[in-house]
Amino acid sequence: MKNIDSNSHVRGESVYLDDIPLIQGTLYACVFDSPIAHGKLHSINVRDAETSDGVIRVITAKDLIGENQIGGIIPDEPLLADAEVHFQGMPIAIVVAISEDFARKAAKKITVDIDPLEPVTDPRVAAANGDLIVPPKKFKLGDTENAFKTCAHVFQGKTETNGQEHLYIETQGAYAVPTENGGMKIYSSTQGPTAVQRAVCRVTGLAMHQVEVDVQRLGGGFGGKEDQANAWACICAVAAQLTKRPVKYALHRMEDMRMTGKRHPYSSDYKIGLAKDLKILAYEVTLYQNAGASADLSPPVLERTLFHCTNSYHVPNVTATAYSCRTNLPPNTAFRGFGGPQGMFVIESAIAHAAEKLGVSASEIQRKNLIDDGDEFPYGQKAESDAVTSWVQGDEKYNFAKLQKEADEFNASSRYLKKGVAMMPVCFGISFTKTPMNQARSLVHVYTDGSVAVSTGAVEMGQGVNTKIAQVAANVFGLPIERIRIHPANTLRIANTSPTAASAAADLNGKATQLACEAILSRIKEVATELVEAGSPEDITFTDGFVFRSGEKTGLEWQSLVLESHLRRVNLSEHAHYATPGINFDWETAKGHPFAYHVYGTAIVGVTVDCLRGRYEIDYVKCCHDFGSSMNTSVDNGQIEGGIVQGIGWMTMEEVVYDTDGKLRSSALSTYKVPDIYSVPKEIAILPLETDRQNLAIFNSKAVGEPPLMYGIGAYFAIRNAVRAFTYCSPDFNTPFTPERVLMNIYGTQTTDGHR
Ligand code: MTE
Ligand code: HPA
Ligand code: MOS
Repeated sequence: MKNIDSNSHVRGESVYLDDIPLIQGTLYACVFDSPIAHGKLHSINVRDAETSDGVIRVITAKDLIGENQIGGIIPDEPLLADAEVHFQGMPIAIVVAISEDFARKAAKKITVDIDPLEPVTDPRVAAANGDLIVPPKKFKLGDTENAFKTCAHVFQGKTETNGQEHLYIETQGAYAVPTENGGMKIYSSTQGPTAVQRAVCRVTGLAMHQVEVDVQRLGGGFGGKEDQANAWACICAVAAQLTKRPVKYALHRMEDMRMTGKRHPYSSDYKIGLAKDLKILAYEVTLYQNAGASADLSPPVLERTLFHCTNSYHVPNVTATAYSCRTNLPPNTAFRGFGGPQGMFVIESAIAHAAEKLGVSASEIQRKNLIDDGDEFPYGQKAESDAVTSWVQGDEKYNFAKLQKEADEFNASSRYLKKGVAMMPVCFGISFTKTPMNQARSLVHVYTDGSVAVSTGAVEMGQGVNTKIAQVAANVFGLPIERIRIHPANTLRIANTSPTAASAAADLNGKATQLACEAILSRIKEVATELVEAGSPEDITFTDGFVFRSGEKTGLEWQSLVLESHLRRVNLSEHAHYATPGINFDWETAKGHPFAYHVYGTAIVGVTVDCLRGRYEIDYVKCCHDFGSSMNTSVDNGQIEGGIVQGIGWMTMEEVVYDTDGKLRSSALSTYKVPDIYSVPKEIAILPLETDRQNLAIFNSKAVGEPPLMYGIGAYFAIRNAVRAFTYCSPDFNTPFTPERVLMNIYGTQTTDGHR
């Protein structure tokens, strides 16, 4: 089934924040942000801005009625800088004017007196200074110290993964409208309506019942709007509160790139120990997360890095230590995979390193160590594993050995073009790692004309969650999808929502919707039983808008039944709650069962590298993916293709560059390249894993939003293999593998152990 938004998208009729018709008298906000990354803020001169054309008011930290604080997990993030600036792009003042143009012009007239302080941009330096966001976190399984002594081979090294700009097509933005008696309605491009509501209440001093947040849809979020939509909503809310007029702010692309955080870069040290038979016996990893200037979501991102630090492998002895390091960069944040990809890259590097030294294919080590049913993850959960089945089914279909042989043959007769192939298994846990977040509610109304309205906390951002929720309602009621309408996420209809994140939105909100629909249906069935003279409600089913009795179609239509139910004063509405059962995690012991289930998969990635120019093409990504049983293959395949391309972008061409002063150099689309249609893989093949396992996913259709991104990691290792087919070198495990870095590895002296 097509995404229910496809018609309005193609016709340009879908409504995003910037399409909302504005109320007369609406003002426009614009932020003046810090020109330097670190310093003492002595004074802010706003006089020229205040007298600039069209300006209604300039707002600084001292004007806030509520608290100058938006840190959701740790209160370490002022909305507007007061005593110090902590990153370049940190909001200092808000200009409110009668037009966007006037606001931007006036913002340029603000000057500040800042005493510069030394900026720190390197997480290892921050850690050495003891500047951590939270105390270090650790996972321990078995006894690495003793295990290393028994290993035939031990290898150590370092890796660097860079950040990634979210580059949602719709930039951050919000529109705040004052409502009667001091209330506020906020339209926000956010993944977390409740997060926005909480933050707005904090900075305005309002209570949560005074603030309504409404989200129609996003033009992409990718994690960048899980927490970081809050600031812009707060800015509009504060301005609306102080001017008593509606205020809108939709960021320009360069403002967005400069002021918002990105995927966390990590610097890591690894040590891997293998037995003679290539079994990994011990793995030790230390991860330095570049958190940026404040916590934002860095602690849970750090935790997920630990959860996924052994990827799809069973390693009996693991010590993983992770540091969240405070630096003078914009606060880094959630990004598809939520720290998982960064952890996986390190163990894949360790395996590639071992393979290179031992003269075997990395795939041999990978295959030997895939996690099996009953094996324990370092965090205590026992695997229900499809790591091996996805590998075997993918290999049977696509034949890694044959692809490798083709590459070898090509390489033997090609001087400068070289092909490389890599396997990339993925295992990703589904559930928010913070157990209490795994809950959702759904409000379903059946109207007397038989149409159905569904509201949940799920935010549609292109991933198709609304389509899946509509399918759930249509399925339970036996109605065509057109009879179902999904309404915007709104905090008045659905309260205390978790953000749409962790790939769990369809599961959580879909299951709540299923429960709500089933509750209504069971009441309607009682009426139907009487009307069609069935023996019991169990004999009643619904298909295509008709009532069926013991499998036989009756003349009773859904619509008449609903109307009759209403006349009999049957409740046609339900507000249902779902909480994922059976999950828990205890950070005291760092053990538990945090995930409802895991998603498995294996990809084979093939590339061709031009070893004269450094350029490369991704020839194919062929994967065997664990959908459970997909409830919407077109939506799910779209998620896989998009995830793979985004993962490849992170690993290859997307290069976030901050200079040592903490200034973003890749601050526009001319200096930051994302994959376009010319750089996507020439082929993406998707084989659904065959399995009859049950799981906790909605209709057994496993979460698909994030896991495929990590197939993209294979591109890095495929390029590395191609480069090594050209010349004897040992490319560093340093991402992204840009064409420049290909050349530096081939012709420069950048190698992990000094040889070429
Ligand atoms: N797909 C599109 N088109 N746009 C997005 O912003 N975000 C991703 C993924 N797929 C995203 C997307 C991220 S980071 C997550 S966590 C999931 O969608 C969230 O949605 P889900 O829980 O419904 O899968
Ligand atoms: N994933 C995504 N977002 C989150 C998580 C998570 O595990 N925990 C808190 N926010
Ligand atoms: Mo996704 S990073 O959990 O929004």
